[in-house]
Amino acid sequence: MKKLVAANWKMNKTIEEAISFVKEFKKIIKNEKNAEIIICPPFTALAALSKELKNSKINLGAQNMHFEDAGAFTGEISPLMLKDIGCKYVILGHSERREIFNENDFLVNKKIIAALKHGLKPILCIGENLEQKNQGKTKEVIEQQLKNCLKNIDKNEISKITIAYEPVWAISRGNPNHKAATKEDAEKGHKFIRGVVEKMFDKSISKNIKIIYGGSMKPENAKELLSMPNIDGGLVGNASLNAKSFAEIISCAN
Ligand code: PGA
Repeated sequence: MKKLVAANWKMNKTIEEAISFVKEFKKIIKNEKNAEIIICPPFTALAALSKELKNSKINLGAQNMHFEDAGAFTGEISPLMLKDIGCKYVILGHSERREIFNENDFLVNKKIIAALKHGLKPILCIGENLEQKNQGKTKEVIEQQLKNCLKNIDKNEISKITIAYEPVWAISRGNPNHKAATKEDAEKGHKFIRGVVEKMFDKSISKNIKIIYGGSMKPENAKELLSMPNIDGGLVGNASLNAKSFAEIISCAN
């Protein structure tokens, strides 16, 4: 299966910085045929990057969206607007949205349904936080998140969704030295997620759904993480801000 590697820039980069990243990245990128590459810049850089990425194999994604098409929702961006600007993907339910902006599974589910309705491919983020991990609740938390977030999603639509397993305790929050999950722990989580998807839908769906890992993925650990049988790619935050390091991660996707 072709790996999927997405850059989540979070609240970083001006338009000028985003354009200069892409110009450099396009020059140095190798192995681009082996991976589906996505860049998710902040909203303000989407239009510029949409132009810059035209005629390239690199896809554009957003980091969030509202579930309504239009209306009185000050400060929000709709799926229609993301389609209009050239997005193919949208990250939904990131743990920073959940923790800082109080998003819950119920809301994330609505967003997934809305994204699919408009032909956007959702990258659904799930994962336990440190407290839940320490209480031995990892599996319970992940299963509940999957059940809630994928509720009422048509079986035929599931293949358009990518699941990002991001253990919250492994997310770097901008610290390049933060520790990722070990490849064994990550693999265990991914395998469990595949099992839950099989229980919820069926074996062929669970076999084909992409489950990517997020949390301090960087050039130093990308190869070992991406070589695990159930890890189909990565959602990369801090290490995707630099064109060289993001390109190195892509070159680990074989
Ligand atoms: P990180 O972020 O790579 O900086 O840990 C990943 C994410 O939060 O998606």
